[in-house]
Amino acid sequence: MNILFACSEAFPYIKTGGLGDVAYALPAALRKLGDDVRLVLPAYREALNASDRLIKIGGFTVKGFEKSYHLRLLQATKNDFEGLVYLIDIPELYNRPGNPYSDNKGKPWADNLERFVVFSQAVSKLTQYLKKCNAAHNWSVDVVHCNDWQTGFVPVFLKASHNPLPSIFTLHNLAYDGQLSYKKFTKLGLPEKWWSADFLEFYGTASMLKSAMVFSDAVTTVSPNYAREICTRELGFGFDGVLRNLGKKFSGILNGVDLNEWNPRADPYIKQKYNAGKQLTSGKQLNKLALLKDTQLPQTDSPLLGFVGRLVEQKGISLICEILPELFKTTDVCMVILGSGPGHFETELKSLAKAWPQRLYLHIGYSESLAHRIEAGCDLFLMPSIFEPCGLNQMYSLRYGTLPIVNNTGGLADTVVNATSTTLKNKKANGFVMKKADADSLFICINNARKLYAEKALWKQMQSTAMKQKSGWIYSARAYRKLYVAQHSKAVKSKYAEDKFSNSKKRISA
Ligand code: ADP
Ligand code: GLC
Repeated sequence: MNILFACSEAFPYIKTGGLGDVAYALPAALRKLGDDVRLVLPAYREALNASDRLIKIGGFTVKGFEKSYHLRLLQATKNDFEGLVYLIDIPELYNRPGNPYSDNKGKPWADNLERFVVFSQAVSKLTQYLKKCNAAHNWSVDVVHCNDWQTGFVPVFLKASHNPLPSIFTLHNLAYDGQLSYKKFTKLGLPEKWWSADFLEFYGTASMLKSAMVFSDAVTTVSPNYAREICTRELGFGFDGVLRNLGKKFSGILNGVDLNEWNPRADPYIKQKYNAGKQLTSGKQLNKLALLKDTQLPQTDSPLLGFVGRLVEQKGISLICEILPELFKTTDVCMVILGSGPGHFETELKSLAKAWPQRLYLHIGYSESLAHRIEAGCDLFLMPSIFEPCGLNQMYSLRYGTLPIVNNTGGLADTVVNATSTTLKNKKANGFVMKKADADSLFICINNARKLYAEKALWKQMQSTAMKQKSGWIYSARAYRKLYVAQHSKAVKSKYAEDKFSNSKKRISA
């Protein structure tokens, strides 16, 4: 089957977080199942620079709020990267320094709505363009898979152009949406009646997330637990009613781990490769020493905690900031933090690192290499997220035998089994789960983990359980494939019924 995977980021072209990992690994797993999955991304400067070959294959016009844009359709390929990527090239909107969503200082681009409404429209038109030029490109789309609000209007534009192509929408994070004013909505030439609560309208705006939920044929999110949580008022960000109304159209499919990228047995970034067997303890020890040396932390055997991620409220950074001084005062743990983000957390963490230079190493910025070395070299990985749709870092930590400490939420709850006397006895424990999303619970959890850290045999057992956990993308890919097949055959059947109906109408009128 031919799948067009529309996304605002994809490793190794451009990545800011887990969405970029998913857009790389899920298509790769689907290709292994025999599908031809192609990505479509905006032609950001970084993505253009990351491409090894670029070919212009066409162009067409799309409408923005105040003007139209003529885009160049580029086909990008990359050495060591299987799969083809279409880049929507509108330099005025996408060819800038910075990341997909913000400038180099972390300030969101002022025209983000226009950038992603135009991108959504371009994706919808691309499907028609490829169909029209099928002879030239020898490829047309069977199903479009859209991801997050930046592609939320793809199903809307498909519907507006009477394109019967089935679309799947995956919600990676309900906290981010693009919301248009009525004035902007009227510029898009969409049916006026869609400005209603049954369609796009959401508390006086047109929500790109809600639109996607309403107009796509199936909606998924990235873990079964998050799927349940967001149907409640507490965690639904106002969308819980819309989500509940989706009924069977909505489901949760757990993300996976790219077993090649995140593999302690063959990770090119780490000092010592290791597996869950005999090399486990010595391998981790060597990686820990290397990390302690690189970060100029004292070379002791005390537990080393790690954190990698976007420095935003969601990730529970405020809890980490709150407990660190007390933790450093009362225990011998050290910590390595890698992250960046808009807002005050960078400043807060910088002053903590200044106050505790022997205990806390902070790297503000993005570093693929350090992320891997933290996963391999730390004993514990902190992920006290307030909410977490799935979370990939805790799964990477499990695979590296770095036991995660997580809050009991979203995909964290689906993947981490708390250490209790029962779960230790039946060898299911692979980490530590907080009772509540607060600083006290995090503190207690770290202290429980420290106690177990002293019990070397139990600790090793937990590491081994963690490392052996099944987490490859193949399981998720199979579930997505089932959805694609179901939606595709539904679309084929309804097209057949439609053709039959219009043929019989023609016969009657003849
Ligand atoms: P989210 O998508 O919410 O940011 P995930 O846990 O799903 O969280 O995925 C985060 C991904 O981004 C992981 O691959 C992680 O290693 C990576 N990442 C986040 N921040 C950084 C950073 N500063 N440097 C390197 N990798 C990072
Ligand atoms: C989002 C979520 C994260 C998830 C990732 C990939 O960024 O915050 O929990 O793992 O998307 O689906």
